[in-house]
Amino acid sequence: MPKKIAAGNWKMNGTRAAVSEAMAIGQADAGDCVVILCPPATLLTVLSDARLALGGQYCHAETSGAHTGDISAPMLADAGATYCITGHSERRADHGETDADVRAQTQAAWNAGLIAILCIGETLEQREAGETLAVLEGQLNGSLPDGATADNTIIAYEPVWAIGTGKVASAAQVAEVHDALRAQIGPRMSLLYGGSVKAGNAAELFALTNVDGALVGGASLKAADFVPIIEALAAS
Ligand code: 13P
Repeated sequence: MPKKIAAGNWKMNGTRAAVSEAMAIGQADAGDCVVILCPPATLLTVLSDARLALGGQYCHAETSGAHTGDISAPMLADAGATYCITGHSERRADHGETDADVRAQTQAAWNAGLIAILCIGETLEQREAGETLAVLEGQLNGSLPDGATADNTIIAYEPVWAIGTGKVASAAQVAEVHDALRAQIGPRMSLLYGGSVKAGNAAELFALTNVDGALVGGASLKAADFVPIIEALAAS
């Protein structure tokens, strides 16, 4: 069985004033779920006492060097991360990251002993053109290095049009994609949905056969919003 995973992506949000939220998230009754928080890198060492697994939001493909403003996978591991998001659509859009870049970053995460949370997702234009499954298959083939296993990789399906928009994909849309991805990645790797997951829609998504959890943005910032999502997963 794939592991059940509730992952929070704080994106570029959170200062030390938010530590109490992370601590409260760590108190959730998570049952057999893994709870991961991906805060800004500045908070990783600060959150070492939280009862949470920690992740980075991005890593450079190289281990060190002249790359001002970047962060490497060994640095994230050194700061306490055990996971790293790779290929998030905001990185792909804001920083022009290609599938080949994401592949190299995912490999770098593995090399540092991190578990990659590899994100893929179609745009609204691609969905409306009927290209969703082909786009996702292409992104996965292009950005997942050889050697991916359930122990080093989690896949997150995040439709770009559902991120931060309040437009969650319907259960039928998520089921169609996750069933196709499951056929591509095999039975053991965890498959998360991300895109406007909230306490009110989480249970319906977690009831789907091939949804093993969620990657949550906005609703992971406050314990009052994220804890009910974690508890819905634990109950699923
Ligand atoms: P929202 O939950 O804010 O839509 O963000 C989803 C996301 O991008 C998580 O990585």
